[in-house]
Amino acid sequence: MSDLREKYLTAIAGAEDEAALEALRVQAVGKKGEISLRMRELGKMSPEERQEAGPRLNALKDEINSALAARKAALADAALDERLRGEWLDVTLPGRPRRAGTIHPVSQVTEEVTAIFADMGFAVAEGPQVESDWYNFDALNIPSHHPARAEMDTFYMHRAEGDDRPPHVLRTHTSPVQIRAMQAQGAPIRVIAPGRVYRADYDQTHTPMFHQVEGLAIDRDISMANLKWVLEEFVKAFFEVDHVDLRFRASHFPFTEPSAEVDIRCSWEGGTLKVGEGDDWLEILGSGMVHPKVLEAGHIDPTEWQGFAFGMGIDRIAMLKYGIPDLRAFFDSDLRWLRHYGFAALDVPTLHGGLSR
Ligand code: DAH
Repeated sequence: MSDLREKYLTAIAGAEDEAALEALRVQAVGKKGEISLRMRELGKMSPEERQEAGPRLNALKDEINSALAARKAALADAALDERLRGEWLDVTLPGRPRRAGTIHPVSQVTEEVTAIFADMGFAVAEGPQVESDWYNFDALNIPSHHPARAEMDTFYMHRAEGDDRPPHVLRTHTSPVQIRAMQAQGAPIRVIAPGRVYRADYDQTHTPMFHQVEGLAIDRDISMANLKWVLEEFVKAFFEVDHVDLRFRASHFPFTEPSAEVDIRCSWEGGTLKVGEGDDWLEILGSGMVHPKVLEAGHIDPTEWQGFAFGMGIDRIAMLKYGIPDLRAFFDSDLRWLRHYGFAALDVPTLHGGLSR
């Protein structure tokens, strides 16, 4: 019996895998295994012989079973170690920069604009992109018959047959956020409202969806002079130049009185734009003193409060600052374009840290 013990314990210790272990188990303690056959022979023995052989066979069987289990556990440990070694990752390796995503110029410029105006005390306000025609038009002193409605190439939402309430629109500008912000916060107020706007228009400089940023400052004694200073500070900070010339051209918007369109001095040397020098002027925004009717729509008393507003195209100033020629490419999701014009994800624009690297 001791040679049986020797034989199986050695074989088990040397088994290379689970299949070999299983074969040994069957061979030793399986139904027709060597130990099991020996146990069957106990019946033919004399009671004395059986008394002696039985416990020894049982002990041997137990010992073999434990050896099998121990070897099996050892094999599993070794397999796990092997796998962990194979799957080991060096987390200290640097990332692969060319695979990293980039921040879209519109997002980058929105962050830059927000940082600059935040520094001047403007909070960010928001409004819905599907807007009622009251907020988009009436509240801004654009009544139903007004030509500005037709000029805006408005997208109208569908209304069910027989429902003759005025349809909602995709907001054609960020100006309705002025009304919502005034209603929500009252005066005094200082907000900007960046966001998406929609018009049915498509060519090299127009896409049906684009981005604007609205500005609104209402207090007891705000004048055009404040508007001019704020815009000059903005343009210098945004284009990262020490000096700018702004030109205020008299204009007309239903929601401001007086109204002005603002141009900046620039040059187009060799096809690249330089802000702050040269003999060209480039229009960048519309602005003016908020019309009393607009203040009223925002539940603000125009005999007590006044202020300025402006609206600027974000995509437009992004194209100018970063020399991007075609607006349509902004929204094509072309990876090569995004890698070329995109910004590193961790370069958050701040005034102290630098806006654009
Ligand atoms: N909402 C105007 C547009 O989309 C832009 C604008 C002009 C906004 C003058 C203003 C403003 O706040 O005062 O064309």
